[in-house]
Amino acid sequence: MLAAAMTSSIGAIEGPRRVLEVGPGTGPFTKAILRKLRAGDQFDLVEINENFCRTLEKKLLGPYRGKHPRVKIGLHCAPIEEAKLEGPYDVIVCGLPFNNFPPKLMRQIFRRMFALLKENGELVYFEYAGVRVMKGPVLDSAGRARLKRIDAYGKSLRRHHDGKKELVLGNIPPAIAYRLKGERKNSTQAKSTQTKVTGGAKKSSGGRPRRERKSA
Ligand SMILES: C[S@@+](CC[C@H](N)C(=O)[O-])C[C@H]1O[C@@H](n2cnc3c(N)ncnc32)[C@H](O)[C@@H]1O
Repeated sequence: MLAAAMTSSIGAIEGPRRVLEVGPGTGPFTKAILRKLRAGDQFDLVEINENFCRTLEKKLLGPYRGKHPRVKIGLHCAPIEEAKLEGPYDVIVCGLPFNNFPPKLMRQIFRRMFALLKENGELVYFEYAGVRVMKGPVLDSAGRARLKRIDAYGKSLRRHHDGKKELVLGNIPPAIAYRLKGERKNSTQAKSTQTKVTGGAKKSSGGRPRRERKSA
């Protein structure tokens, strides 16, 4: 269910499409992306872990290439901060667990992803619902301060990139997919974040637009 939410915009784009997946791990989103690709599309994956890269290549990408020679697929076994990639991409699907990351690294990674995203393209990432609330009590004060900065940066991104939330209640555990728009030059994108609840009502969370912080 989460994979469907994370990849839903790919089908709506007229081809040829360029799709990037960041942090595929064992490939739950990769499988959903591969099902949507057509001849002429390009799909790049960036995964830091060599074991996951080997498994992805052997179990998913190699067999897929054999059957779909006209889809270009590139697996980059590297951190997204350093991977040799050429944008722009129509869609970036990001599976990185930002609640475990230092805020500075999270900002660095989002800057890289926005640099690779097409103007008006879509960057989609996720987190498990309530994860920061659940982690808070078991962390020390430095850990809680880190989570607060992660939360604030996420909110700032969503205000400045026309953020949309999709609550995927059917996922175990429930998760939230966040969609951000690529950077449009010469226009203000600050808006409140709209929330879609899969199978439920729409809600809007207001908020005063704030300038996105550029550095630590
Ligand atoms: C939580 S897993 C997500 C995997 C998958 N999307 C899922 O939902 O099961 C995150 C993956 O991101 C990879 N990763 C972590 N930091 C990364 C980075 N800086 N660049 C690329 N991949 C990274 C990890 O090795 C891991 O496979």
